[in-house]
Amino acid sequence: MFSLKRFVESNSLRSIPSNYICQKNEDDDSMLYLYDAQNIPIIDLSNLISSHLDDRFNEIQKLGDACRDWGFFMLINHGVSEKLREEVLRASQCFFDLRGEEKKDYVGENVFDPIRCGTSFNVKVDKTLYWRDCLKCYVHPHFHAPSKPLGFSETLEEYVTKINEVIGELLKGISLSLGLEENYIHKSMNIESGSQLLVINYYPPCPKPELVMGLPAHTDHGLLTILIQNEFGGLQIEHDGKWIPVNPLPNSFLINTGDHLEILTNGKYKSVVHRAVVMNKKAARISVATAYGPTLDTIVRPAPELLTKDNPITYRGIKYREYIQLQQSQQLDRKSCLDRIR
Ligand code: SIN
Ligand code: FE2
Repeated sequence: MFSLKRFVESNSLRSIPSNYICQKNEDDDSMLYLYDAQNIPIIDLSNLISSHLDDRFNEIQKLGDACRDWGFFMLINHGVSEKLREEVLRASQCFFDLRGEEKKDYVGENVFDPIRCGTSFNVKVDKTLYWRDCLKCYVHPHFHAPSKPLGFSETLEEYVTKINEVIGELLKGISLSLGLEENYIHKSMNIESGSQLLVINYYPPCPKPELVMGLPAHTDHGLLTILIQNEFGGLQIEHDGKWIPVNPLPNSFLINTGDHLEILTNGKYKSVVHRAVVMNKKAARISVATAYGPTLDTIVRPAPELLTKDNPITYRGIKYREYIQLQQSQQLDRKSCLDRIR
């Protein structure tokens, strides 16, 4: 199994292999917006679940605004310990440090294999390779994770149990922000037995980071993605035609809306376009993203309650499973997958 990490470590690279050199859009750098921490919405989970109705109501409103105007927010006061988050990142590093033969059981071929290790996005379709290795595990409705290194699986399981509660509260808040009943998304998307995919991204150090891309502009499948990273940045989100580098508040979760929230809301909440750039010449960046979706057999379509004469249906219904297959079969390219079901 090819590992970019091993390749970089064993070759002490000075130049970049040509199949990794990314054609960057000319305007890309001019699209970069100097980061202003005040701009990205911040949602406080303790307000969202508060027994003070005013606090709760205000936070639900802020959550709705963040999903509509940004498709992205940082979540604070979420109750998941810093220690557990650090443990997940440390254990992830240990997984990628395993020797090739220790990972050989996880070379999944199929997008629905419970555990898959890989590189780039999908080497069968990528025109340029991306500067990234990854591990993907389906962690719900059944939990799967590699049995090595020691303790890795237990740490991931504890983490996904904790963030499950967080996502549950966010989805209730989102239902309410849309004027729907609190459990609307839970019920219509079968969240209790929904599919959750945990993806650990490993972006090795790169001698010429400006020439490569970690992950190109894309949107995520699913309703919401929750992300943590080690101390190195690289995530950028598109907002008002500009790329905004995300600099997380300490101990916050980075949350983005996914394609299925856009479909369910008939476009009211936009699935945010984002990408991962590589910035580090000396150290690896690790991010851990978990995408929350319905069960694979749920047909996701716009909620009839949100449709009006002035807001007619924009997306056709599609099974979550088929949507994931569609995304996997083509190159990552902004909203190309969503555009195909309009
Ligand atoms: C992703 O978009 O799936 C990962 C983004 C990141 O590594 O920050
Ligand atoms: Fe993503």
